Amino acid sequence: MRINLLHLLLLVNGNVFAATNNDNAASIVHREDPVETLTFDDGPVNIQDPIQMRAMPIIADVNSPRHRQERAHLLRRMARNHGTWGSTHPRLRLLDTLFGFTKYKERQIIELNRWRNLYTNVGKKQKKVLERVVNYKKKLDDVEELIYENLMICKSIVSNALQFYGVTQQELDEHIKDAEEKERQADRISVSQALKHFVRDWADEGAKERNDAFPCILSTLSGLKGVSKEPSPLKVLLPGSGLGRLGHEVANLDGFEVTLNEWSMYMNVAYRFIENSTLTNPFSFHPFVDGFSHHATTTDMLRKVTAPNVTPNSKVLLVEGDFNTAFKDQAGHYDIIVTHFFIDTARNLMSYFDTIQLLLKTGGKWLNFGPLLYGTAPFVQLSLDEIIAVVEEMGFAFEDIGDDCGEITFDGKKPRSKEAEYGFNGKALTKNAYAAQVWVVTKK
Ligand SMILES: C[S@@+](CC[C@H](N)C(=O)[O-])C[C@H]1O[C@@H](n2cnc3c(N)ncnc32)[C@H](O)[C@@H]1O
Repeated sequence: MRINLLHLLLLVNGNVFAATNNDNAASIVHREDPVETLTFDDGPVNIQDPIQMRAMPIIADVNSPRHRQERAHLLRRMARNHGTWGSTHPRLRLLDTLFGFTKYKERQIIELNRWRNLYTNVGKKQKKVLERVVNYKKKLDDVEELIYENLMICKSIVSNALQFYGVTQQELDEHIKDAEEKERQADRISVSQALKHFVRDWADEGAKERNDAFPCILSTLSGLKGVSKEPSPLKVLLPGSGLGRLGHEVANLDGFEVTLNEWSMYMNVAYRFIENSTLTNPFSFHPFVDGFSHHATTTDMLRKVTAPNVTPNSKVLLVEGDFNTAFKDQAGHYDIIVTHFFIDTARNLMSYFDTIQLLLKTGGKWLNFGPLLYGTAPFVQLSLDEIIAVVEEMGFAFEDIGDDCGEITFDGKKPRSKEAEYGFNGKALTKNAYAAQVWVVTKK
């Protein structure tokens, strides 16, 4: 049977992926990819298409008791009648996120048309040069085409999420209709950022960013495991895990039971899309088509990235929600907490410290790696020396760590500074790097 792209999209938008378990409702590709002609039954299917991506096989450990329990718990929290229905309700946040991914193309095209419109201000003679030399209009048309290709990934993410969270297409459609009637716009930036996170975490191109941080963190954890007397796997929690690659690398070390935690639904639906992949690089996308700045060449801007470059470790568990509240019943449960580019996201830094202290066993370790880039409205903003003083006052002891975590930041104290990028695009003519602060402390 042959099926064309229009049919495919109808299937995706129609009932094929409409989840049936309503009761328990508890940041791109290349034009040569043959998405328009897909052959089912009698031939190969392009892995790029939403049906194929949704159908990535579910593998053993995702069905482990730990995974099953957490999913049941998640679906209960997601139920409409659970808690208060409002902007922080997980189901509403999920629906808003899926609204964002669904409207990816529309929101991007509005922006593209704005650029097209701005181009009309260029003089006739100037345009002639631009068209002859760089074919500028065609560049904008190329961007449009790649936006359509990115849309396929967004649709796959939505299909996968509907199934995973037990939400029907009808419920999402109604949510979108309601949002549009209220003239609420889908979030373009968060979708774009989530797609770019695939690069940082799961593409070959992200290796530089990962290599700034992971060797220090992984060797420190191996060292802790080496001296640990605990015979069973050490329980490691990584709050603010983004798309989770670090946790998967920790799980690959052996001897660790890894739990990720992430608040953002944009991150979570992207993670759910990738977590069961049993193939390497099954999908491709064009993460940089939505910005014209900092490109050495237009080819760089339009380039294709593939992901995931390794298969995820199926033992890793993601617990969705706010770090400060999601683990309330797990006091003293964890051997190690790893905060990677996380603590400066706090509204109240002291609450993160309290939660870390609560969740660690006595003798447990907290490993931090990240900058002190505070957000727009934190209740308290501390410099490194103040953090050291507060953390010591709380009863943590700073430990020595190895040279692969950088130089000592200041004499007489143990935290180290390690240059670490957080920019997604290694080819950009700009660099976004931090003197990440690294420390290990023990809960006394
Ligand atoms: C700067 S990002 C770093 C992500 C990832 N660790 C990395 O390095 O790529 C911080 C992450 O923390 C998440 N986050 C912020 N506040 C959180 C909270 N209270 N609980 C859990 N995650 C949170 C954000 O959604 C974001 O994904």
